[in-house]
Amino acid sequence: MNTSKRRPILAANWKMHKTAAETRGFLTAFLPLVDGLDGREIVIAPPFTALSAASEVLKGNKLVSLAAQNMYFEQEGAFTGEISPIMLREFGVKRVILGHSERRHVFGEGDDLIASKVRAAMENGLLPILCIGEMLEEREAGSTYEVLERQLSTGLSAIDNRGATQVVIAYEPVWAIGTGKTATPTQAQEAHIYIRSWLDSRFGPGIADQIRILYGGSVKPDNINELMALPDIDGVLVGGASLKVEGFAEIVSCQID
Ligand code: PGA
Repeated sequence: MNTSKRRPILAANWKMHKTAAETRGFLTAFLPLVDGLDGREIVIAPPFTALSAASEVLKGNKLVSLAAQNMYFEQEGAFTGEISPIMLREFGVKRVILGHSERRHVFGEGDDLIASKVRAAMENGLLPILCIGEMLEEREAGSTYEVLERQLSTGLSAIDNRGATQVVIAYEPVWAIGTGKTATPTQAQEAHIYIRSWLDSRFGPGIADQIRILYGGSVKPDNINELMALPDIDGVLVGGASLKVEGFAEIVSCQID
């Protein structure tokens, strides 16, 4: 990990877990456990309905910031059930997870829709965390890099060199999400190297070196240090193991060189 260039991000994706009251309880217990940590950024992505409660507890906190798990690409309009970037900013949301594998594979979001969301996030002052990753069949068929290439080239199609340094990529192999099956360090590092080389050819080395690439998929307290030791892993996106205060506190307290 080259922390001189890239400050690690340790992010919690709570998915459809925790009410506003539970969110308040979690953060009230969590903040004292992480007080004083430095050299890293901690991000919490609660459900939309808990953003208000979370923003109250996190007010003024420099270490822990807020992300949303999704958004629509319009600022307002007749889009029943959707949430706009402006609505998120009202709660001090800094980042937004886009193209998560559950959005792609459970809710059918395609690369073009995700690209529109990435563009809209940037235009409205939110920093996207663009999730990419292959399914098991795709890995077994040897098409992992082809899938990553497609997800990156479409997902980032509207991003210029200046915007690129603000984007965070999360590599999450679909077969590792929620399955307890983490990618091996070699698999993770290889995919991250591929992603960085793609970023390099698209934006140039000076920019690619600044873009943070997170790993996600069954990250836990007992594998965090091994993952964070890999040179191209600049942080993690954690689902299941981020739901418990002590477990997530242990993850974010990981060794950073
Ligand atoms: P997991 O989820 O840690 O439960 O595997 C990761 C994610 O979906 O972001």
